[in-house]
Amino acid sequence: MKLNGQRRWAAAGVVVATAVATFGVAMSAPAGAAPGCRVDYKANSWGGGGFGASVKITNLGDAVSGGWTLKFTFPGSQRVAQGWNATWSQSGADVTATSLSWNGNLGTGASIDLGFNGSNAGANDANPSAFTLNGTLCTGDTVPTTTTTTTTTTTTSNGPGPGPGRVDNPYVGAKQYVNPDWAAKAAAEPGGSRIANQPTGVWMDRIAAINGTVDSRGLVGHLDEAVRQAAGSPLVIQVVIYNLPGRDCSALASNGELKPTEIDKYKTDYIDPIAAIFARPEYANLRIVTTVEIDSLPNLITNVSPRPTAVPACDVMKANGNYVTGVGYALAKLGAVPNVYNYLDIGHHGWIGWDDNFGPTAELLYQAANASGSTKANVHGFIANTANYGALRELYFKIEDSVGGTSVRQSKWVDWNRYVDELSYAQAFRQRAVLAGFDANVGMLIDTSRNGWGGSARPTGPGPTTGVDAYVNGGRIDRRIHLGNWCNQSGAGLGERPKAAPEPGIDAYVWMKPPGESDGASEEIPNNEGKGADKMCDPAYTGNVRNGNNMSGALPKAPLSGKWFSAQFQELMRNAYPAL
Ligand code: GLC
Repeated sequence: MKLNGQRRWAAAGVVVATAVATFGVAMSAPAGAAPGCRVDYKANSWGGGGFGASVKITNLGDAVSGGWTLKFTFPGSQRVAQGWNATWSQSGADVTATSLSWNGNLGTGASIDLGFNGSNAGANDANPSAFTLNGTLCTGDTVPTTTTTTTTTTTTSNGPGPGPGRVDNPYVGAKQYVNPDWAAKAAAEPGGSRIANQPTGVWMDRIAAINGTVDSRGLVGHLDEAVRQAAGSPLVIQVVIYNLPGRDCSALASNGELKPTEIDKYKTDYIDPIAAIFARPEYANLRIVTTVEIDSLPNLITNVSPRPTAVPACDVMKANGNYVTGVGYALAKLGAVPNVYNYLDIGHHGWIGWDDNFGPTAELLYQAANASGSTKANVHGFIANTANYGALRELYFKIEDSVGGTSVRQSKWVDWNRYVDELSYAQAFRQRAVLAGFDANVGMLIDTSRNGWGGSARPTGPGPTTGVDAYVNGGRIDRRIHLGNWCNQSGAGLGERPKAAPEPGIDAYVWMKPPGESDGASEEIPNNEGKGADKMCDPAYTGNVRNGNNMSGALPKAPLSGKWFSAQFQELMRNAYPAL
């Protein structure tokens, strides 16, 4: 949790060649004339026609206030793809960068760093050599032009190029985006205004969500509103990427619109447009956090043959490779945008916390992070407990405890799991991921939207030591009937409010699942989103092998997944912990 963007980038082995040129020639201007400016332009090529450029402007003249415009002309076929700290545009070979609302003043002697990522069709296009600032040719300061080329590593990468650099933890020192569409629904509920100002995830759960649906604005609408809310300060907006082919293979509630084989459509109609929108220059100062494809890769570990928990649809997705291909593609495309922070989903402790799931999940995630042209540099971290209910901390028993010589791991509730809560799981997974090959500075998110477990059923101390089950069941914060229950859980409450850097290794507690949105319909509801009715959302269901054949614990009368579920929202507020 300490690396800055530059070290991330270098550590990821992306640097291939660096060409440095500094422009400025000696000037013998008459005393009193406006001397102008100096521009230091550095281009870093990372092969395959891609490059990044940093552009430092130093004002050597009178103070500039109220805005500036930098112009230059490419000598070759370069194109600006997307830039930062200015509004960038290009016409033919002519490039214009204009100041933003917050950086339009440039005092005498002051510098500002801009940059962009670009493409380059020619083999060795030279750098631009003449720059004007507000119409004045930048000829200031005598610095000899130098060009050096160093080859430091040969790893090729679609990873993030040079830029202002990602910060280590995007949540630190940043505001967070409040989704007005969710906030309006929350505020319309009695008592809802107490939490309507909390940041929640924006779900791109189908292609139509990119342009917007009857329920919610589109991605551009969200990002524009995010820029407005940022008002010049750093701001995190959380976007959930959730539309893989054959989505949600082990359940029916969130089956998606794309068939198991529709990987090309996923790429061209879903990921590509999202990446293109993220890359728009007007969003370059947002910190865009993505949650990448919840539940997908964990399903390929636990719900496939020959395990007793196998589901045919997950066998299909494992065999055709499209989860791995799709996740790799999403990471590569989204990770190429320098202000995007990708967090891969790791399920939750009640799923991946067993020894035979834990390591294999980390290894599979690493494989996916290196698929479809991606590299691990595109993974900023991981998210645990997305849309799930696992307690953040079990306060009254630890995994090391035993009762009468019997470990809590042998209790029915823990059932040999290695973790008892999401915090210990997330921190341990971070280390296991690093062992699998991920960068040492990856950070974790934990979705605490619905894992509060307050209210009258919350224990206030350890259970009796008459037996290991009595001890665990009496003391556990998580009041679910079984750890494998996941749909609209009765008794659940809002958890920790979103918070940056709450614990070592944890980038933030987040509300990725917007509280009040259903996990799935209690019974079949016709729809055109591909969503089915999962028995786990039916309160009368007596379970299957994945929840130890227990009752589902689901609330009755739930609407389709993602739709507003007022009764659940009320229950979540009632059982909030910390209380509202
Ligand atoms: C479920 C739904 C999805 C919704 C999300 C957030 O996964 O399938 O449509 O956006 O939850 O509520």
